[in-house]
Amino acid sequence: MAASIFAAVPLSPPVAVFKLTADFREDGDSRKVNLGVGAYRTDEGQPWVLPVVKKVKQLIVNDNSLNHEYLPILGLPEFRANASRIALGDDSPAIKENRVGSVQSLGGTGALRIGAEFLRRWYNGNNNTATPVYVSSPTWENHNSVFMDAGFKDIRPYHYWDAAKRGLDIQGLLNDMESAPESSIFILHACAHNPTGTDPSPEQWKQIAAVMKRRSLFPFFDSAYQGFASGSLDKDAWAVRFFVSEGFELFCAQSFSKNFGLYNERVGNLTVVGKDADNVKRVLSQMEKIVRTTWSNPPSQGARIVATTLSSPELFDEWKGNVKTMADRVLLMRSELRSRLEALGTPGTWNHITEQIGMFSFTGLNPKQVEYLIKEKHIYLLASGRINMCGLTTKNLDYVAKSIHEAVTKIQ
Ligand SMILES: Cc1ncc(COP(=O)(O)O)c(C=O)c1O
Repeated sequence: MAASIFAAVPLSPPVAVFKLTADFREDGDSRKVNLGVGAYRTDEGQPWVLPVVKKVKQLIVNDNSLNHEYLPILGLPEFRANASRIALGDDSPAIKENRVGSVQSLGGTGALRIGAEFLRRWYNGNNNTATPVYVSSPTWENHNSVFMDAGFKDIRPYHYWDAAKRGLDIQGLLNDMESAPESSIFILHACAHNPTGTDPSPEQWKQIAAVMKRRSLFPFFDSAYQGFASGSLDKDAWAVRFFVSEGFELFCAQSFSKNFGLYNERVGNLTVVGKDADNVKRVLSQMEKIVRTTWSNPPSQGARIVATTLSSPELFDEWKGNVKTMADRVLLMRSELRSRLEALGTPGTWNHITEQIGMFSFTGLNPKQVEYLIKEKHIYLLASGRINMCGLTTKNLDYVAKSIHEAVTKIQ
């Protein structure tokens, strides 16, 4: 028989974070802990269906006016409008001036991908394969691949994390913006930076905006954790809203995976803020073409859940309460882990655990210490030392803290 036409296909390595979860599942040790996965867990270590989501799902089931017709290519109108409203704020001048548009997408990833594809085709002239795209160092690993797959050939890191001081390298970041070619694209984490858990302060965002405006750099916000960082939707959207108030045209990719716990429904939104209604209309007309050849039109269930919740004042309040429950549990785990490490006298400083925000903490553990935790302690985390705070529970905190202590004291 002739060889397979696929004989030359190289085997690609698995995606690290999903591989980690698969390894965790196979591990038979009763002490095992998964600190790798990027999803919320309750104090029982279980996924959480938000009570408001449960309620809205029931409303949808009982609503006989709903059917399974195709949605419009750009998505459910009430979802798109409400999603953009929570990103930009109720009194956003851009919304009032009718210069905001949006595209319902398959998760935050889909929003990034549609935005990237559009920018490559149409931003600042057409066919922008050579336009530099800057991503923070480090960043969520998919940023590089999404922009590369959209055709961008020059993807560059910008300074972000200062490992020595375990905080933001604001000077390095500003210097990189100063020296970036005009019209470069910058991917900015709106809040709860993944993986470092470290965001610029409002004063630092102001400095960033000033340089970006002077150097004509394009802000593409990635907002995957609104509400999760501080427990407040408004506080977590501060940077995006500040940029809009400064007159920027921008994109904001929103994910409802984390703050609604709708990971597998794939519900996201790409908010487009333009100079005026006419510009936004033309941009959306091109995005519609891109969506048509990508997924043709989006799924409805997740978008309906979000739209129903956001458009009812009572359900909206209930949702904000649910988000706060998740954010508060993360904050509690942060302080509990820090106090245990400090009580054990674990070498190093651990204040960064409580200073960082969002789901993740960049512990500062090195790859050898991570390997020790996985192999000897059955505690799974990314090689970068990033841990998901939601993997911690009141039952495993002592074990995790003691294991980190051992890893840090035994292995340099
Ligand atoms: C920074 C960042 N952006 C985007 C996403 C994508 O979210 P979604 O699962 O909605 O595609 C994630 C998810 O982990 C993320 O951490």
